Amino acid sequence: MKTQSDAPRPRIRVLPDHVANQIAAGEVVERPASVVKELVENALDAGAGAVTVSIEQGGKSRIRVADDGCGMIREDLLVCLDRHATSKIRRAEDLRDIHTLGFRGEALPSIAAVSRMLIETAPAGRAAGSRLRVLAGRMQGVEDAPRRPGTTVDVRNLFLNTPVRARFLRAAGVETRAVSEALHALALANLDTRFVFQSNGRTVFDLPAGRDLAARIAAIWKDADAAGLISVATQRGGMRLFGALQRPDRARPGFRRAHLFVNGRPFRDPGILSAADRGYRTTVPENTRPWVFLFLTVPRGQVDVNVHPGKTEVRFQRRGPIEDFVEASVRETLEGIESAATWGEPRPLQVVREGEGHSIINKTQPPPRRGK
Ligand SMILES: Nc1ncnc2c1ncn2[C@@H]1O[C@H](COP(=O)(O)OP(=O)(O)O)[C@@H](O)[C@H]1O
Ligand SMILES: [Mg+2]
Repeated sequence: MKTQSDAPRPRIRVLPDHVANQIAAGEVVERPASVVKELVENALDAGAGAVTVSIEQGGKSRIRVADDGCGMIREDLLVCLDRHATSKIRRAEDLRDIHTLGFRGEALPSIAAVSRMLIETAPAGRAAGSRLRVLAGRMQGVEDAPRRPGTTVDVRNLFLNTPVRARFLRAAGVETRAVSEALHALALANLDTRFVFQSNGRTVFDLPAGRDLAARIAAIWKDADAAGLISVATQRGGMRLFGALQRPDRARPGFRRAHLFVNGRPFRDPGILSAADRGYRTTVPENTRPWVFLFLTVPRGQVDVNVHPGKTEVRFQRRGPIEDFVEASVRETLEGIESAATWGEPRPLQVVREGEGHSIINKTQPPPRRGK
């Protein structure tokens, strides 16, 4: 950079909102699957009993998420696209104790900044429904729209004004698979919500609401029955682990299904996954990669979910004890495999002690639930 004193000095300016939103969109909206994830999280936070996701061309031309949740009144609809507009937290302290999937107030404005968006919403009760139209972050109009309580967000022409990002999108089939995987994770974590997924007018899956992780896994994956899953339910101190593990004799090299959740939120964490794999050591050959579905519950103050705009990673205050607990839980569950409860039956909670591997049978626990 030139530093001669005669060079014109660029002045600092605060960027207008629509530019700031487009920048934020670069982090929040990577591809159609991230849009689906954000919109479905909003539906779940709104208490939806059923969520229907429809996409066209892998979501590149259209993404529609409809829910039967709490809806929005007109005043809220008009501000929900403002940057950092959220109904989910109020004060900085709330960040320490987050009970919802969203909290950053960034998703809707970011998605709206790079697409043509239509929101239809109606709250329960007598208030009328409303429809809002937005083009590339600019509001086009709002009008009455009669509808049942709930919200539908319709996103067309993703990245219409950011051609470089549009060029990074993969073939429709690849994007469809990514959407499907994002939905699998959310469906596993929200058993009491029905999930319908349609692609190009065809129903890909329709997962009925229920309470049973085994039933949901079987509804999602045809090969789940053959996979030989057993349940895990363990506890140590304030930590709990629920979920399913593949029997070591059924584990194969190569492809695996692995889903991790912390306090009801899907997340990615190679460290925790390795810890689970260490728990398998001695029971499987080194190159096999067993399926794992692990729902970790830790005291809220020990996990920071505000690490990344996409909220797909978390930070643990102390990761060592958690990895330790996961490894010990897997090992002890596999050790007790002959006496293990049949997959799908409630499993007694096993207390995994620190140090040696003694386990004590404790009371039966229901599957984990996110505080709504
Ligand atoms: N499907 C929905 N049903 C009801 N309210 C919604 C829905 N989607 C968004 N909202 C409202 O819009 C706000 C902004 O959404 P969003 O930008 O995703 O931020 P966040 O989810 O982090 O609060 C939410 O806090 C919520 O009040
Ligand atoms: Mg949100």
